[in-house]
Amino acid sequence: MSELARNLNALDERFAAALAQADDERALDAVRVAFLGRSGEVTVLRRSIGRLPAHERPGAGKEINDAALAMEARLEDARAALQRHIFDADLAQSIDVTFPAIAPVEGSLHPIRRVLNDVCAYFERRGFSIVLGPEVEPDYYVFDALNIATDHPAREGFDSFFLSDTLLLRPHTSPMQIRTMQLHTPPVAVIAPGKCYRRDAVDARHLYQFNQIEGLLVAPGIHFGHLKGTLLGMCRHLFGPDQQVRFRPSYFPFTEPSAEVDTTCPRCAGFVTQCKMCGGSGWIELGGAGMVHPNVLREVGYDPETVSGWAFGFGIERLGLIRYDIDDVRRYLENDPDFLEQLG
Ligand code: DAH
Repeated sequence: MSELARNLNALDERFAAALAQADDERALDAVRVAFLGRSGEVTVLRRSIGRLPAHERPGAGKEINDAALAMEARLEDARAALQRHIFDADLAQSIDVTFPAIAPVEGSLHPIRRVLNDVCAYFERRGFSIVLGPEVEPDYYVFDALNIATDHPAREGFDSFFLSDTLLLRPHTSPMQIRTMQLHTPPVAVIAPGKCYRRDAVDARHLYQFNQIEGLLVAPGIHFGHLKGTLLGMCRHLFGPDQQVRFRPSYFPFTEPSAEVDTTCPRCAGFVTQCKMCGGSGWIELGGAGMVHPNVLREVGYDPETVSGWAFGFGIERLGLIRYDIDDVRRYLENDPDFLEQLG
């Protein structure tokens, strides 16, 4: 065996041993530099060619080159194997198919929105249209057209936010009665939900921004019985099939006769004297209602001799308190995920 062949064999053995030791990218690089680098072992061997007789030199050069190419190839293989190994290790570590899945957090509609949707659904099935109107209204729509003249004491009851002498944030949704009747000839059957504003101090029962839902039905021959039947149906739809309603005489300038509407307490049905929801009376107030006043009908050009109608206005927050057994309207605004999730 020639000296060169012996040297190449020895080199190959050292290379194989170094390669077997290299267990990361940096070690592999070090092996490459040590053997194939500019002053590596292969280069040293190449330099020794100069000491050979001239006729042996080309053959020797080729042998060394072939050996160097083979070493490059083995380095590449080792590098690829290393990468596969790292990938497999990662995979084995990061995916545990037996790990319990993390349930995605699901959003849900706000309780106010859900009550609103339910009320609207009840009335839409009965042929009512949903109408929306402005939150900033001229006092004409809020008061005058609703039979509340400038000096009428009922204005005091609506502690309103005025934006100018005549413009205000609507304190109720009743202006939508006027807007609807001005736009359409009878019969009209609408539901008008929306935000309202009053200068109320905030407590468990009051917010200065709240939601009302207004109902209006005007057609020939409409009477108080229609109102009672409709609201009884609404309460059973919202709170349960055993609900009852009662009407207490009241006063609103835009209705005659007027009533306060109560429904039976769904929490205790009147059997618990300490009931927090109804105070033991067994009844919970929903809001106002009545037969549309002839002056209001005349104001929009309707003839009170040929058409009549009923109207009601309920607080949506209030309906939600009853529906979801909530004790404080401020809960609606806290954005407490637990509260919302519980109702969702
Ligand atoms: N708008 C009244 C309020 O906010 C509630 C109301 C009472 C509305 C009687 C009506 C009604 O439509 O007929 O206090």
